[in-house]
Amino acid sequence: MSTSASHAGFTGSSRVFAQTVGVVVLGAAGVSALSGRGAPVYADTSVDYGKVKEAIEKILDDDDNMGPTLVRLAWHASGTYDVSSKTGGSDGATMRFKAEAGHAANAGLGIARDKLEEVKKQFPQITYGDLWTLAGAYSIEYMGGPSIAWRPGRVDKDESFTTPDGRLPDADKGSVPATIQHLRDIFYRQGFNDQEIVALSGAHALGRCYSTRSGYDGPWTRAPTTFSNEFYRELLENAWTVKQWDGPFQFEDPTGDLMMLPSDMAMIWDKEFRKWVEIYAKDEEKWFTDFSAAFKKLEENGVKAFEKGEKKKGMFW
Ligand code: HEM
Repeated sequence: MSTSASHAGFTGSSRVFAQTVGVVVLGAAGVSALSGRGAPVYADTSVDYGKVKEAIEKILDDDDNMGPTLVRLAWHASGTYDVSSKTGGSDGATMRFKAEAGHAANAGLGIARDKLEEVKKQFPQITYGDLWTLAGAYSIEYMGGPSIAWRPGRVDKDESFTTPDGRLPDADKGSVPATIQHLRDIFYRQGFNDQEIVALSGAHALGRCYSTRSGYDGPWTRAPTTFSNEFYRELLENAWTVKQWDGPFQFEDPTGDLMMLPSDMAMIWDKEFRKWVEIYAKDEEKWFTDFSAAFKKLEENGVKAFEKGEKKKGMFW
């Protein structure tokens, strides 16, 4: 599956490509290559990101289920950011290491990382942080979503930068107020507000839960490979009931085909969250704009190379 636009631009440099297809590859100003023992691996500006996207597109063409999983990989690589200590985030790609890959929230993401290894082999100069975030951003566009502004510049850090477990959200904290509070705790820690929490959560229009990965089961929408505001519409339009099964606490629609996590239900249980669900259910264009901004912020949170005034080589090591 592919949008016609996404085929149109596969010529020439990444700059030409970016203008044609919309995933905006911004300049890599201030990013410099370093080499030598102990030095971080910097983004190599000679990488042809247009060609990298072609390789990612091949993966998406070959397997409909991979796009949503690549989006999830980008989100989990980035969502570890802590604004107060300025640790975590996509800079570092520390999910490469067993400790972080083994966090329960990351179950199943080895499939996406292994798949992208094929691209890394073709373009060894790209950093994992750049590759994972580009794959997420491009998958969103490929599945019909908005363009996400993306730029290279993440470095691959060593294991000592691995983030502690518990930085990504749990789907259930045992009670309605606890689950709502947990979402705010996790996303405020990353520097997001209520509107951005709801905007980002609409990505659950894509993909599904796998009982073999998270333990939860089922898709949120009937079009899980299309980026649309359907997550919000399904949330509002269905009478959701607790699923009776031998599995974790989750909700189902009257047909039993669709599901919601307790954390998804929190989007309509909480008054402030619900306000945004109603806005996005009615106005997909507004959601696309807000999602695009929030996802760029998510993928750039904590990336040292993008901080203002960051010029000197290796000044942060
Ligand atoms: C609000 C808190 C969130 C919670 C508790 C949560 C939880 C989950 C869970 C349990 C799954 C199923 C994983 C599996 O079984 O493989 C999942 C899948 C997914 N999540 Fe989230 N998520 C949250 C927010 C987000 C955000 C912010 C994004 C992206 C912006 C996102 C994107 C996805 C996607 C695309 C999938 C489908 C993956 C696939 O099909 O392989 N989620 N999420």
